[in-house]
Amino acid sequence: MKIFIDSADMGEIREAMSWGIVDGATTNPSLVAKTGRPVEESLVEICELVKGPVSAEVIATDAEGMIAEGRKLAAMHEHVVVKCPMTADGLVATRCLSEEGTRVNVTLIFQPAQALLAAKAGAAYVSPFVGRLDDIGEDGMGMVASIVEIFSNFDFATEVLVASVRGSFHAVEAARIGADVATCPGSVIRQMMKHPLTDLGLERFLADHRKLTG
Ligand code: G3P
Repeated sequence: MKIFIDSADMGEIREAMSWGIVDGATTNPSLVAKTGRPVEESLVEICELVKGPVSAEVIATDAEGMIAEGRKLAAMHEHVVVKCPMTADGLVATRCLSEEGTRVNVTLIFQPAQALLAAKAGAAYVSPFVGRLDDIGEDGMGMVASIVEIFSNFDFATEVLVASVRGSFHAVEAARIGADVATCPGSVIRQMMKHPLTDLGLERFLADHRKLTG
């Protein structure tokens, strides 16, 4: 499974890339707003750092505006993946941009039917938001399992990019289900690295080593 860093913050992305286990990045308008810089200002820098797919979301909500914005974003760097929301206009823009050879990540997906339509429109990725479904008592990972099953039934090339990941449990479940990608905040990737017994075990190894060497 590929792991993407879900961030627009250069420091967080740089640190995540240093770990050698991150394959791409995703941003969205909220993550970009947190940095205080328009995505156009940092997108090329992020692409150069990540050297893999980097999702940047359009702001327009009409198909014509999404297409125009998507073309501009895609022209900025070969690694740019254009993010469009799962709406009727988003489907129109996805069809148009994907037919021009631009990769589209259809985002804000909360039910399998939306993922099916996005795949039919030619999306390179679909982004089911698991954490936000869990927040309202629904089964986020159950949605992902349905999407993976549907895509495998019809060999869609579209990749399932699990988003709104709130902990290592989401990333592990995504891998168990067979999702293609999990996009995680840096804090979640750190959580995936750690276990208290690992820390304790390392302390004990070092303490025993010190006894030997005095
Ligand atoms: O990639 C989508 C992600 O950034 C949304 O996460 O926690 O706001 O649902 P969250």
